[in-house]
Amino acid sequence: MPSDPPRSPVGVTIAPSLMCADLCRLSESVKELEDHGIDILHIDIMDARFVPNMPLGLETLKQLRSMTDLPYDVHLMVEDNGFFIERFAEIGARMISVHAESAIHLDRTLGLIRSHGIRPGVALTPASPLSTIEWVLDQLDFVLLMTVNPGFAGQELVEGSLRKIADCRRLLEDRGIEIPIEVDGNVGFENIPEMVSAGAEILVAGTSSVFHPGASVGENIRKTWESVEIGLRDD
Ligand code: DX5
Ligand code: ZN
Repeated sequence: MPSDPPRSPVGVTIAPSLMCADLCRLSESVKELEDHGIDILHIDIMDARFVPNMPLGLETLKQLRSMTDLPYDVHLMVEDNGFFIERFAEIGARMISVHAESAIHLDRTLGLIRSHGIRPGVALTPASPLSTIEWVLDQLDFVLLMTVNPGFAGQELVEGSLRKIADCRRLLEDRGIEIPIEVDGNVGFENIPEMVSAGAEILVAGTSSVFHPGASVGENIRKTWESVEIGLRDD
């Protein structure tokens, strides 16, 4: 069984969102992330149906697989979860999250992910209540809370998302379930301290942080860790 999602010594993981990298120099972008100590890649898979976008294709990720050892944290934003789970079982993934809003049979879908030795998670859009995962909590290796509406980078945090992170941490603690909360969307230098303080442990870093246009990737990664440190101090 693959090991847990990689974590920094502080217990927080930065998972750069590959859709926000320079897609015309993808292998160089990934090398740059490796050189700056990144240890996992967040892969947004969109089918232009569940969300009106399609930034990354299967063939691209299959070719990239042979160029990097970094584990794939795959976030499915698709209608046919079964199809994409099988494809990533072939390509190779460490983690796969499926949207509760797209999985007709969520329990069975999570079992399919785990049957391939991949760590299953449920992703929730900002509008979905935490009660949605009530009866699959013991099947999860992580929970992914969307803090923007899924589909596009560069959006603003949805009001109430920070409180939802804290509520989710409380729900997991009350049930004695020790799994990380992953947050995805506008995970920026300003929001990270509150997200970490609320209990987020895996940070999907896109144009708001690691790929922020205002500085180099290396400088952005340094600033992202600074924001994490602030959040841990507020913990
Ligand atoms: C949104 C994507 C994310 C993220 C990108 O559907 O899943 O990868 O929003 O990062 P930001 O929001 O910082 O541009
Ligand atoms: Zn994502």
